[in-house]
Amino acid sequence: MKNKLVSLLFLLWLLITLVACKPKEPTVQNNIVIGFSQSGTESSWRKAHTTSILDGLKKNKYQVIYRNGLMDQERQIQDIRSFIAYRVDMIVFTPLTKDGWEPVLKEAEQAGIDVILVDRDINSASSDLYLSHIGPSFKAEGNRAGIYVNNYFKEQPERKINVLELSGLTSASPTTLRSDGFREAIGREQNITVIQTVYGDYTRNKGKEVIRNLIKHNQLKEIDVLFSHNDEMTLGALDALKETAIQPGKDLIIVTIDGQENIIEELRAGRVNCVVECNPQAGYYVARAIERRLDGDNKQIPHEIYMPETVFSDQGDLDSIPTRNY
Ligand code: AHR
Repeated sequence: MKNKLVSLLFLLWLLITLVACKPKEPTVQNNIVIGFSQSGTESSWRKAHTTSILDGLKKNKYQVIYRNGLMDQERQIQDIRSFIAYRVDMIVFTPLTKDGWEPVLKEAEQAGIDVILVDRDINSASSDLYLSHIGPSFKAEGNRAGIYVNNYFKEQPERKINVLELSGLTSASPTTLRSDGFREAIGREQNITVIQTVYGDYTRNKGKEVIRNLIKHNQLKEIDVLFSHNDEMTLGALDALKETAIQPGKDLIIVTIDGQENIIEELRAGRVNCVVECNPQAGYYVARAIERRLDGDNKQIPHEIYMPETVFSDQGDLDSIPTRNY
C-alpha cells in the first residue's frame, strides 16, 4: 500500500514537472484574429495586393476575417465596425478615400484595437489613430514619371510640351500625391506643362470613356504626353486610341504607373514609353509589423513604412524585366 502511494506521488510530481517545463509557445500563435478590409477589385494590381496580404497573414498562421468594400466607403466602414464588434486582435485596411475615417478609427481606439493602414493613406487630425501606414510613396512615383518626361524632351528645350493627365479617383490619396510629385518634377522645365486633367477613377472603362470623349471633341491634337495614374486606365486609353490615327508611344508619349504584366507587354511593343512601378507586395511587411506588435516586448514599429519600387522604360533593357505576377 505504502509503495503504491509513493509511485502515485512520483507520477504526480513527474506530471507537474513536465507541464512546467513545456517549451514556450512560439511568438506566432494561431488564435490571433486579424480583420482585413480591402477597398475594391478595380485592377489586377489591386487583386495582387489583396492576395499578397492574405498570403502574408496566413503564413504567420493568423486567422483572417476578410471583407471587400467594392469601392464603397460606407460599406468599408461597416466592415470595420463588424471587426470591432467581433473584437479582432488587429485591423488592417486600405482606405478607399482620404477623408471620413476618424469616427470609426476612434471606435477602434476605444475598443483597444490597433489599426494598420495599407496602400492608401488618410487625412486625419491625429496620426495616433493608427499604428502604422505601410505602402508605396505615391509622391515619389509621380516624381519618377515627371523625371522621365523631362529627360525624354531634354534636347528640345524650346519646344512647348503639353501633358494630358489621366488622374485616378479624386478623393484617394495616390491621386493627389502622384499629381504633386509629377508637377514638382516637370516644374523644373519651363517648356513642359499639364494643360488638362481628366478623371478615370483607376478603372479601365472610365479611362477609355474619358479619352474617347476627348477624341470626339478633337482635344488630343495638341497633346504630346499622356501621364496616366494607373495601368488599367492606360489600357482603356490605348483601346480608345485604336479608333484614331495617333500612334501611342510615338505621336503620343505614354507614361503610366503600376507595372502590371499586360502593360509591360505594351512597353515591349513600343506603345507605352515608361512604366513607374507601384509595388503591391505588401503582405510580408504587414505580417512582420503585426508580429512585432504582438510580441509583447514593446518593439518599435515605424509610423510610415515605404516599400521598394523601380521604373521600367524604353531607355532600359526590356528583356531583363522579371515576369510580374499581376
Ligand atoms: O492605391 C494604389 C492604386 O490603386 C494603384 O495604382 C491602382 O492600380 C489602384 O487602383
